[in-house]
Amino acid sequence: MPQGLLGIEDLTREEVEAILARARDFQPLQNQTNKRLDLLRGRMIVNLFFEASTRTRTSFEIAAKRLGADAVSITASGSSVQKGESLVDTLNTLAAMRPDAIVMRHAASGAPHFLARHLPAPIINAGDGTHEHPTQALLDALTILDHHSTLEGLRVAIIGDIVHSRVARSNIYLLSKFGVDIVLCGPAPLLPPQMAQLAAGVTLTHDMREAIRDADVIMMLRVQLERQDDSPFPAGEYYPFYGLRHEHLDLAKSDVLVMHPGPINRGREISSEVADSQRSVILNQVENGIAVRMAVLERIMKQ
Ligand code: NCD
Repeated sequence: MPQGLLGIEDLTREEVEAILARARDFQPLQNQTNKRLDLLRGRMIVNLFFEASTRTRTSFEIAAKRLGADAVSITASGSSVQKGESLVDTLNTLAAMRPDAIVMRHAASGAPHFLARHLPAPIINAGDGTHEHPTQALLDALTILDHHSTLEGLRVAIIGDIVHSRVARSNIYLLSKFGVDIVLCGPAPLLPPQMAQLAAGVTLTHDMREAIRDADVIMMLRVQLERQDDSPFPAGEYYPFYGLRHEHLDLAKSDVLVMHPGPINRGREISSEVADSQRSVILNQVENGIAVRMAVLERIMKQ
């Protein structure tokens, strides 16, 4: 099986560190007039997105181009998936065009893992259902490390729709490898007790103030209504209990970082005041996404 990147759970701490170190080499490129390197010239990356995406898809495409590779993006709505083609047939069709890597997002947890066993091209998971979103956790770690010398000993509160969040899972796997004190917080239907068993150093609370107290980082999550067909959450009751507002920030460390993977829903999980505040690093996360994805693409295609 060609080595891609399916999840953070499979990586060692050293592998995470190596990707972050390489991403740091790429960070200054953002401010240069010529942003293009030729490290992957002649390589071809296919982005295949079966779910909505603004940041992740664009970011992978830009990262590939900055490395000198060619990138093609396909969305399910404009593809033969609409004509009833199966996932395996779609992927085999794309693989026959000999891409050097396939970046894929799919609503089914485990879809990229299944395909990785059958395809000759390495697969990078850009989000599979409620399971993992490895490059998001890597860019989140890079963003935290832009402000802290180490992750060790930090207190990170992850708040919102934890159970449906692949961002939360990948962050839990990554942060736990570095001895982070992780507090998960959300309403009971979105935070089942078994989430505490995901990794070492994880605690749970339904009380947002308790989660935020002394936090170095607050990661807010979107309520993922698209994954809640079975038990819709009462929308009106969410914001008063789990929406991040300015008054909460006083409970956290004075230099707390407010993060969100996006897309944000202002007035639903985060106030505009906080999202646009000095404490918010939401757009830094987006910026770091390119450097991290360059590091991941280079690593996978240099093998
Ligand atoms: C996240 C995702 O798709 O899992 N978004 C992203 O990739 N930046 C989070 C979300 O959709 O809420």
